[in-house]
Amino acid sequence: MDKSANHARPQPRAGIMDIEAYVPGKSAAPAGVTLHKLSSNENPLGPSPKAVEAAREAAANLALYPDGSARRLRQAIADVHGLNVGNIMCFNGSDEALALLSRIYLGPGDEGIHTEHGFLAYPIYIRANGATPVVAKERQERVDVDAILAAVTPRTKMVFLANPNNPTGTYVPFEEVRRLHAGLPRTVLLVLDAAYAEFVRRNDYEAGVELVAANENVVMTRTFSKVHGLGGARIGWCYAPAHVVDALERVRDPFNVTSTAIEAGVAAMHDRAHVERSVAHNETWLPWLSDELTKLGLRVTPSVCNFILVHFPEEGRHSAPAADDYLGARGYILRRVAGYGFPNALRMTVGTEEANRGVVAALTEFLKS
Ligand SMILES: Cc1ncc(COP(=O)(O)O)c(C=O)c1O
Repeated sequence: MDKSANHARPQPRAGIMDIEAYVPGKSAAPAGVTLHKLSSNENPLGPSPKAVEAAREAAANLALYPDGSARRLRQAIADVHGLNVGNIMCFNGSDEALALLSRIYLGPGDEGIHTEHGFLAYPIYIRANGATPVVAKERQERVDVDAILAAVTPRTKMVFLANPNNPTGTYVPFEEVRRLHAGLPRTVLLVLDAAYAEFVRRNDYEAGVELVAANENVVMTRTFSKVHGLGGARIGWCYAPAHVVDALERVRDPFNVTSTAIEAGVAAMHDRAHVERSVAHNETWLPWLSDELTKLGLRVTPSVCNFILVHFPEEGRHSAPAADDYLGARGYILRRVAGYGFPNALRMTVGTEEANRGVVAALTEFLKS
């Protein structure tokens, strides 16, 4: 094709072609091998059976548009979390919340800060709105609040903090989050992305509810994709000050959450036993995996999430890509994280007992090879 003719076709806005498209976790295994998908931090127990049943029942009414305000889902979230329903909004995955917040608060000339190994969606949404991503260095795979504060300029409009963070699995104690907030200008929106909050069992962790309630410039985002096992239903939500909800209401799609997702979400939110089972499963297998992988001589980043970052030797035959190929051929699909600044690591979701034991056995063989 004649490249010189490119000017004669529609051109994306400045910044769009600088975006590196998000690469989702792989989900295929070679023929004849059982697939264990450990690449997207999904729940190995699956969703609550009550959520599946509710979605099935809702499917009988697919001719009708959903309730655009997702009132039943917001009410379920409000009841379970003890929140004001008017400050809750639901989305097509928490990704949509992050995208819409970026659309509202960022434009050309603005800056959005994210951390060195932060969730890769942040720079995508920052650039998609013509703004500039600014990277705050981390320290030993942990968010460094001072580095974030040092990155603030008069152009800063948003700070994205995944707490706990993906793919490191580390978290920022809440006193540090408060210190971060206290150091930010009140015109900067602090987004606390708490996608993995339910898994954290630490006394000094909070997802951010009180900080949102007490301030005009903090939003907390949450998801049904992780502990609730509903990644395919695409449900996220945020807890936000009224003026942010007001702005979000103006830009969101009128029917951004489907009727099946609303009903699945209501049932999942109320099935606390399933949430507890899912967290208990993680509580058993996260330390087991950490210990076993460490015993194999692999360094793991201490995780409070449902996944673990495993580091491989920089040199020689036992590199992360080689391990990924070896595991992949046996049906264990992990996540390469070079794009997150970890070329020598793989991220592994805590899986079923069978998958966890299988990965450790396969890595034992791999490291002998
Ligand atoms: C830190 C973080 N935030 C947000 C998301 C997006 O979740 P969803 O759009 O499925 O709600 C993910 C998914 O991997 C994540 O790891």
